Amino acid sequence: MSAGSKSFYLTTPIYYVNDAPHIGHAYTTVAGDVLTRWHRQRGESVWFLTGTDEHGQKVLNTANSSGASPQDWCDRLVDTSWKPTWASLNIAYDDFIRTTEPRHMERVQSFLTGLKDQGHIYSGRYEGPYCIGCEEFKLPTDLDDGRCKVHGTLAELVSEENWFFRLSAFIPQLLQHYRDHPEACEPTSARNEVISFLESGVQDLSISRSSFDWGIPVPWDTKQVIYVWFDALLNYATAVGLGDPVDSVGGKKFAEVWPPDVNLVGKDILRFHAVIWPAMLMAANLPLPKKVFAHGWLLVGGEKMSKSKLTGIAPSDITDHFGVDAFRYYFLRAIPFGTDGSFSWEDMGARYTSELANDFGNLASRLIAMIEKYCDGVIPAVANDEILQDALSGTVSNADTTIVALDFQGGINAIMEFCKRVNGYVTEKAPWVLAKNSANKSELDAVLYNTADSIRALAVLLHPVMPATTEILWASLGADESMGPISAQRIGDVARWGQLPPGSKVTKGAVLFPRLEDKAL
Ligand code: MSP
Repeated sequence: MSAGSKSFYLTTPIYYVNDAPHIGHAYTTVAGDVLTRWHRQRGESVWFLTGTDEHGQKVLNTANSSGASPQDWCDRLVDTSWKPTWASLNIAYDDFIRTTEPRHMERVQSFLTGLKDQGHIYSGRYEGPYCIGCEEFKLPTDLDDGRCKVHGTLAELVSEENWFFRLSAFIPQLLQHYRDHPEACEPTSARNEVISFLESGVQDLSISRSSFDWGIPVPWDTKQVIYVWFDALLNYATAVGLGDPVDSVGGKKFAEVWPPDVNLVGKDILRFHAVIWPAMLMAANLPLPKKVFAHGWLLVGGEKMSKSKLTGIAPSDITDHFGVDAFRYYFLRAIPFGTDGSFSWEDMGARYTSELANDFGNLASRLIAMIEKYCDGVIPAVANDEILQDALSGTVSNADTTIVALDFQGGINAIMEFCKRVNGYVTEKAPWVLAKNSANKSELDAVLYNTADSIRALAVLLHPVMPATTEILWASLGADESMGPISAQRIGDVARWGQLPPGSKVTKGAVLFPRLEDKAL
């Protein structure tokens, strides 16, 4: 990073540890991982934060009902379930924050004290419905017959003396913010929802609870714990040194990354992130996140997939069958980011076979086999094909624009279109026919070089999405030795033709995407 330039900072929600991760959680985290890997490959300095949300009634109740102390319960779930799942999905986060860590709890307390000193906090009485599943104070209009519309469970009636945050005071400023910076809340449907919610009149927010003690104590009133969302939202700032002296490690980190470039969330938690969170930051005079992006839900049977409704699917249910990289690829490729989408084994199987095994995997294995057969396994001399080169340039700029705008489907489509084009090129040039006559040797070499350099480009472009598979491909192209690690290849340089060094030795690696019928079920 050059002096003074800011890191690209992306966060995922911090997940409740009342249960193990399901594919809905993995969807957000993989999207964050792909985007941050893409930015790293653009040569940017990146900070990618994820973590777990461990306080509140929901986690407390689950721990109680399984006979564990809440802290033991959280420790166990984080160590045996959440972190291992992210490792298995190849999630390259830079930091993992847990809200029970002292670094978080202490900074949350100082932040709250600061807000109180500034007159943004007052004491009052909260009476109204609360959904433990959402950990949210509800309005009567949020409920159907007293039941939460998301969880279908009866909301409990809360009546407590609490501390309140003057949220309503920030509504005009928030509306102005979204008018001035429409890109601060995307997609457009999410922004419209937030604006009409803000226009409908928003009340002050109770930010403490007194009927249980699993939370961060309110510093000046330790009979109360801080409301779990107020605690949780601050993770994005506490993890990077909120409030630390400017010349300390934390203070320097904060200066390097703040504000977040993207707070990535599912649409279920949009209001927390687009209303309460920026208002908290406004109250503390801190710069606001540049963007909150709300993606859609993975649906099962037409409803939001969730563990509480027994529709939760574990990532391993899918990766055991299709592999980790196909999992990472599938959801971003199949569902426009921002829209709901249904998961189906059939659709995943069909795309796996046609796009990954046939279009991409076969192209690579055919090329390696032909270079072994016709060129003694050595990449031939650099050749040129203007049509392929132009197509690649267009692909790189299209993929870069779309992926940076979180249109993962658009970006992956562009890359896979180029893959189809290369397949078309091979079919059209028919190197196996050229090989029949030694007079065609230089033409044959040219076709194989053009194909190999196209696959070099495909491997780099697909690396953020499918890191392990593309590394195998990179090694079998001999590029590891001749060009350095695949993760060091720059997006801005991918379209420069002729990078794969002639003379590199190719090797037949593992089949990238084995046929499904060959896999043990
Ligand atoms: N702990 C809060 C977030 C606090 S952030 C300061 C929370 N946790 S959660 O465990 O319920 O995770 C919610 C997030 O998981 C969603 O916003 C979304 O990113 C992801 N998903 C959970 N279920 C999902 C689907 N069915 N589909 C897509 N994403 C889903 O809320």
